[in-house]
Amino acid sequence: MRRLAARMNRLGTETAFDCLCRAKALECRMEVVHLEIGEPDFDTPKHIREAAKRALDEGWTHYGPSAGLPELREAIAAYAGRLRGVRFSPDQVVVTPGAKPVIAFAIMALVEDGDEVIYPNPGFPIYESMIEYMGGRAVPIRLREENDFRLDVEELAALVNHRTKLIIINSPQNPTGCVLTADDLHYIADTALEHDCWILADEIYSEILYDTEFASISRLPEIGRQLIVLDGFSKTFAMTGWRVGYGIMPVPMAEKLARIQTNTNSCTASFVQRACLQALNGPRDEVTEMLTRFRRRRDVIVNGLNELPGFRCREPKGAFYAFPNVTATGIDSKVLAGRLLEEAGVACLDGACFGKYGDGFVRFSYAASVENIERALDKTRQLLAGK
Ligand SMILES: Cc1ncc(COP(=O)(O)O)c(C=O)c1O
Repeated sequence: MRRLAARMNRLGTETAFDCLCRAKALECRMEVVHLEIGEPDFDTPKHIREAAKRALDEGWTHYGPSAGLPELREAIAAYAGRLRGVRFSPDQVVVTPGAKPVIAFAIMALVEDGDEVIYPNPGFPIYESMIEYMGGRAVPIRLREENDFRLDVEELAALVNHRTKLIIINSPQNPTGCVLTADDLHYIADTALEHDCWILADEIYSEILYDTEFASISRLPEIGRQLIVLDGFSKTFAMTGWRVGYGIMPVPMAEKLARIQTNTNSCTASFVQRACLQALNGPRDEVTEMLTRFRRRRDVIVNGLNELPGFRCREPKGAFYAFPNVTATGIDSKVLAGRLLEEAGVACLDGACFGKYGDGFVRFSYAASVENIERALDKTRQLLAGK
C-alpha cells in the first residue's frame, strides 16, 4: 500500500473527544459524570432554534458566499466591535464552520516550513497540532501557575526572533481560565510590532468572564494590520453542534482566508448563519442567565477542589474550566485522570493533553449542573481516600 504523507505523523488531536467516547462506552456499566468536554450543557436559546427552522422553511438551504452571508458579516462586525470598543468593517469578517477552522486557515495562510509560532502551553491542543502539521516549528510559552497562568511577557520577548511568524494568544484561556491584563496585551502587541509578526488572538470565551472586564488586543493601535481575532457562537450562545465561528482580520487576509474556504468547505451552512443573525440581534436573557450559572458552578468546583487532599486550584477568571495542580496527591496526573474515569466515573482530562507544561494538573470542565459537580467532587474524594 502507498504510504501516507509524512505530515500525517505530525498531526495531533484533541483528547477531549477521545475521552468523551471512552466515557460514553463506560456508561453501560457505571454512572459517569461528564466534566471532560468543553461545551455548555444548556440548550441553544429557543429564539435561535426557531430562527433556524424558519430559515429552512424559507429556503436558506443553498451555497452562500465563501466569506459568509453579507448580513451576518455586518452583524458580526457591529457586535464584535461593540464588545471590544473598536470599529470593524464587514469585509474584515470571515464566517467559518466552527471557530476551529480559523486556527487552521490562519496557520495555512501564514506559516512556511521552519517558521516559528509561539503558542501557550498548557493550551488548546489544536494550536501545536496545526503548527507542526503545516511544517512550522511550535515554540511553547509556558503558562505558570504562580503567575495565575498569564504568560510572562519577558519570557515572550526572549522567545521571539526573526523566524517568528506568528504569536498565538488565548484569553480567557482554555484550560486554565486565565485572563490577560491590558498591560500584558500592550506588551504582547509591542513585541509583535517590533518583530513584525502576526498575532492570532483566540477570544472564543470573550463573553465568559467573572468580575473582570474583557480586554481585547484588537483595541490597541496599529496591531490591527497584523492581527486575526477569533471568536464564535459555540460557547457564548451554547451552539457547539451548529458549527459556526468567525475570524476578523485585515481585508487582504480575509480575502485569502475566504479563498482557503472556497477550496475546503465552500461556505458555512446558510440556514445556520441566518440563525446566528438572530443570536446577535435577539434577546440576551438566556446568555446572561448562563453566565450567572457558570459563576455559581465555578465557585462550587473551585472551593470543592481546594478541599480535596493534594489538590490546589487557582480561581479562574473566565471560560468554564478548573485546572487544579494535583502533584501533592502523589499520583501522576495521567494516572489520576485515568483512575477518576475508570474507577470513580468522573470524566476529566490530564493536564498534559494541553501540552507538556500541563503535566501535574487535571482539567475539569464545569459546564455541568451543580449537582453533577458535587457528585464528581464526592466521587473524587472517595477515590483519594482509598488511594
Ligand atoms: C480555546 C479554544 N479555541 C477554539 C475552540 C473551537 O471552537 P469551535 O467549537 O467553535 O470550533 C475551542 C473549543 O473548545 C477552544 O477552547
